[in-house]
Amino acid sequence: MALPPAAGGAAAPATPFAARPGGGLRRPSAAPPPPPPPPAAALRLGPLFWPWEKVKVGPLSVSPMGFGTWAWGNQLLWGYQESMDNELQECFNLALRNGINLFDTADSYGTGRLNGQSERLLGKFVREFEGWITTTTQNGPIRSPDDVVIATKFAAYPWRLTSGQFVSACKSSLERLQLDRLGIGQLHWSTANYAPLQERALWDGLVEMYEKGLVRAVGVSNYGPKQLLKIQSYLDSKGVPLSSAQVQFSLLSMGEEQMELKTVCDSLGIRLIAYSPLGLGMLTGKYDVSNLPKGPRSVLFRQILPGLESLLSCLRKIADKKGKTMSQVAINWCICKGTIPIPGVKTVRHVEENLGALGWRLSPDEISELESAAMAAPKKMIQNVFQTA
Ligand SMILES: NC(=O)c1ccc[n+]([C@@H]2O[C@H](COP(=O)([O-])OP(=O)(O)OC[C@H]3O[C@@H](n4cnc5c(N)ncnc54)[C@H](OP(=O)(O)O)[C@@H]3O)[C@@H](O)[C@H]2O)c1
Repeated sequence: MALPPAAGGAAAPATPFAARPGGGLRRPSAAPPPPPPPPAAALRLGPLFWPWEKVKVGPLSVSPMGFGTWAWGNQLLWGYQESMDNELQECFNLALRNGINLFDTADSYGTGRLNGQSERLLGKFVREFEGWITTTTQNGPIRSPDDVVIATKFAAYPWRLTSGQFVSACKSSLERLQLDRLGIGQLHWSTANYAPLQERALWDGLVEMYEKGLVRAVGVSNYGPKQLLKIQSYLDSKGVPLSSAQVQFSLLSMGEEQMELKTVCDSLGIRLIAYSPLGLGMLTGKYDVSNLPKGPRSVLFRQILPGLESLLSCLRKIADKKGKTMSQVAINWCICKGTIPIPGVKTVRHVEENLGALGWRLSPDEISELESAAMAAPKKMIQNVFQTA
């Protein structure tokens, strides 16, 4: 399949990947030696989704998958170092050039002195992207930074006690991002479980930032179905649409609560954003008990991985059959369930591979096979401590 024309009408750069009829990616088997690869940020990987496959989140139109940036600035859990910034910028550029326009971040991302680093980096990458106007993706031109939907999350810190303080948090995020307006402003978690009186002020803060035009859409995160109904009804009474609900959703996190939340979201026209779709990396197939990631993840993985043999072998079998990777299958499952997955990425390799989760679909039989294997796993992902009912 021909690649779309590159910037300025020149031929698209050669790519070490070829598009499959179904839109997935594969290494070409053709004999001639490939030309030297262009910088990764210039790669374009064929049509991964069509314009009509973009997903509505309130007034916004986003790619069927976004990318998460929790790792960008997080030394403790994700081993971030500032020397990674060039590659992170390549990740951003590569994603954008391939039509991905949703990037998830938060004002709490970044450890210690790096707090806010994920937002700062995203802002820098948006500013420095060189392809505005000239880059035409399969989904139309990338016209301006307005085409990029930055979804940030405002932490419900105990010192954010008034709506004004929450609006100030939004303004600080805008400053770090160097933007006038955010795509989606999300309340990172509900305080219902431990400080219910604080929550109304945070909801009012969301209303205010929407009314002031600081955010184009409003979302929540870590809300269960019951609490979601409450905030949706409150926002609705103030004339503010709730556009998205972000929750941990993957083959390792697909319990009754998640499914009920999805049903509630569907009934209210709220888009479900699936975070940790790769189970923090466990569903990629690259870890086992003798090969654990560095840092605190290893403690969790040591508990969960031993029971995942049949799920991982089911993922591997389906991946092999379809000529995909386990990560691509795990992400595609989230898309098949009607959610927008936002896998975390920190290398160009991650972006390249995860882009291959688009442009094809698991069959209903494959979906049930995966779900049966997932349900049989003795241990699932632990849920976020702030997750409400
Ligand atoms: N709202 C919330 O409370 C909340 C909570 C968590 C996350 N989130 C959002 O959701 C995003 C995604 O979740 P997550 O980062 O927690 O977990 P995830 O997407 O399940 O896993 C991401 C990790 O898996 C590994 N990985 C990604 N693609 C890979 C590939 N193709 N091959 C091999 N390894 C791959 C990478 O880590 P390694 O290479 O180090 O293994 C990557 O950092 C976050 O970045 C964040 O934006 C939100």
